[in-house]
Amino acid sequence: MSWPPLREELRGIEPYGAPQLDVPVQLNVNENPYGPSALCIADIATSVAEAAVTLNRYPDREFVALRGALADYLSRDAPAGITPDMVWAANGSNEVMLQLLQAFGGPGRTAVSFAPTYSMYPEYARDTNTRWIAGRRAEDFSLDLDTARDLVKTEQPSVILLPSPNNPTGTALPHEAIRTLCEAAGDEGIVVVDEAYGEFRRTGVPSALELLPSYRNLVVTRTMSKAFAGAGLRLGYLAADSAICDAIRVVRLPYHLSAVTQAVALAALRHAPELLGKVDELRVERDALVTWLRAEGYDVADSDANFVLFGRFADRHAVWQGLLDRGVLIRETGPDGWLRVSVGTPDEMAAFRNALIDVNGERA
Ligand SMILES: Cc1ncc(COP(=O)(O)O)c(C=O)c1O
Repeated sequence: MSWPPLREELRGIEPYGAPQLDVPVQLNVNENPYGPSALCIADIATSVAEAAVTLNRYPDREFVALRGALADYLSRDAPAGITPDMVWAANGSNEVMLQLLQAFGGPGRTAVSFAPTYSMYPEYARDTNTRWIAGRRAEDFSLDLDTARDLVKTEQPSVILLPSPNNPTGTALPHEAIRTLCEAAGDEGIVVVDEAYGEFRRTGVPSALELLPSYRNLVVTRTMSKAFAGAGLRLGYLAADSAICDAIRVVRLPYHLSAVTQAVALAALRHAPELLGKVDELRVERDALVTWLRAEGYDVADSDANFVLFGRFADRHAVWQGLLDRGVLIRETGPDGWLRVSVGTPDEMAAFRNALIDVNGERA
């Protein structure tokens, strides 16, 4: 027996994570490039100081105030409204989705998604001993609904993970796709629409939150990591039928959301209009980036997110390395031949464009 006595199937596996390199232009993990304003920082500091007074006590296990504030925020995208009992939160939407797998996956059960997609999904399945099945997306990264429905009927998953917009392609799902899969899953499965990048969707692209009244097996996850510029905060959440929220309470660790996390998240939510104003700037920057890349002759996937997948490169690693050598870090991920770049500030995007032109000049 080798040391340490790790589970057999975990031996030799590298922990997930993009390289954290100290370079001037970091466009590799889809962070929001804008930090919170001085006003928001002051509100966060005051809120943390208030929370500190009672840090000798465990935090509100049911995070009632935060659930209320998140429900109000989500109701903007949900005409029927979201009530606090329909909201659940944890340390990042990664933890929310792991909890969903803990509650609804497990031995003898199956989770399904459609590749190329977010690389953490198979890890949630592995860690909860859930069987993992990845269907394929079409050539344009959309879902072929007949194929997707057939896969669900055949594999009968208890969890279907559907990012919209998808990472790394940026592709949003039409309501028809979500309806089809909710109906195919029936009462045996939950359909998780991961809207980590939902706030960045283009005008006219709907949120799955609108469908919650129609499907009790639908779960919509969101995060404060992207639109709320809170990647360091670690706060993800979901909206679903209250019975689903209740079920997660069985598997969550007691007091999993610290008093400090709850206080900071509440403060950030109070500054939603300001933070979402920056999201609008990033959406404009994203659309300009897509236009520029296409004009330069690249293949570019339509993006409803704060990143863009572009290609195709015979040697994408060489391009990634060339950009890094010029101080611009992007992500070597997704289907072979493609690269993913996050949307940054106008200055960062100018640096990216110049570096890419330079790399191409050198390689020509
Ligand atoms: C599609 C998708 N879902 C979820 C997450 C997790 O985000 P967090 O745990 O920071 O909420 C990410 C992070 O990049 C993502 O790309």
